[in-house]
Amino acid sequence: MSCDFLALAVPGVQKLSPYVPGKPVDELARELNLDPAGIVKLASNENPLGPSPKALEAIRAELADITRYPDGSGYALKAKLSERFGLAAEQITLGNGSNDVLDLIARAWLAPGLNAVFSQYAFAVYPISTQAAGAEGRAVPAKDHGHDLEAMLAAIDANTRVVFVANPNNPTGTWFGPDALESFLSRVPANVLVVLDEAYIEFAEGGELPNGLSYLPRYPNLIVTRTLCKAYGLAGLRVGYAASSPQVADVLNRVRQPFNVNSLALVAACAALDDADYLAEGRRVNAAGMAQLEAGLAALDLAWIPSKGNFLAVDFGTDAAPINQGLLQRGVIVRPVAGYGMPTFLRVSIGTEAENARFLAALAEVLGRG
Ligand SMILES: Cc1ncc(COP(=O)(O)O)c(C=O)c1O
Repeated sequence: MSCDFLALAVPGVQKLSPYVPGKPVDELARELNLDPAGIVKLASNENPLGPSPKALEAIRAELADITRYPDGSGYALKAKLSERFGLAAEQITLGNGSNDVLDLIARAWLAPGLNAVFSQYAFAVYPISTQAAGAEGRAVPAKDHGHDLEAMLAAIDANTRVVFVANPNNPTGTWFGPDALESFLSRVPANVLVVLDEAYIEFAEGGELPNGLSYLPRYPNLIVTRTLCKAYGLAGLRVGYAASSPQVADVLNRVRQPFNVNSLALVAACAALDDADYLAEGRRVNAAGMAQLEAGLAALDLAWIPSKGNFLAVDFGTDAAPINQGLLQRGVIVRPVAGYGMPTFLRVSIGTEAENARFLAALAEVLGRG
């Protein structure tokens, strides 16, 4: 006799909608019978440069050892991160991407009867991990598409354990400065964890954004999450980390799977962190690509949300689904964000100059403004 296992799933999981990733190149090629080589994917905020040569070399050298389990403590990567960012190894929790760390946080501190606060239009994993843990997710209305930190403070109550804030935010690219962060952190109750998600910080560093790591000594309830999957170009290997107080890291390490970061990711991350040229080139290409896209969008008379990430949310002022379809037919994959409550927008990741040009040309054609 068959059984309804959905009905038997824990209540939070029953109501979950799965995360919808960017469409893979091969999937679009199969669906529309296109040559994968001619498809441009600007849908997942990936690094358009290809991997760091140093990371590739480290991966090749490690391949012969993949019969062994990885170093479950991630000793070498933690040492590298400690040296680079002035952290103690005890403050670091490694994750299979920073997604993994976000999920560990929810598993460790959220449960039925408790809640997590995040912004409308914030990264989809916050509500998913919160709900999977059986807790209530409180989406606070955004202000100009960005976080309304005052309203988020007001949404915190006695049952709040976690507040997720992303700087810059995905999918909007919005950001806040050091004064806003300080004012926020100084007023969040000491028993509420603030998760400051800095997945895109490397694209914004040196500008108007605060460096979350520098607030850790003063705020023991702060967890900064970062990733090697964006600016460092290792999305396919999945590696990220959290920096926090040693006690918070100790809790996270209790729920972490023993070998959550694989051995190729560990060595590649160390090498990528050492490749300053790669990081600098990625930033340069991103800044140039952002300017190229902004000029192209302005020429098409389109609006977008100013962004400090490696992507832009473009507002078409009308249902964006048919425009997305037109782009797909021309072999250009961007990200629909209707699932985020932004049905008139498409999010486009910054690519190489040629990829950005392909996107703009395809868009002009779809809009009949070519
Ligand atoms: C705001 C934000 N946080 C975290 C992540 C997770 O990144 P990863 O798991 O690849 O490190 C993403 C990925 O898109 C993101 O946009």
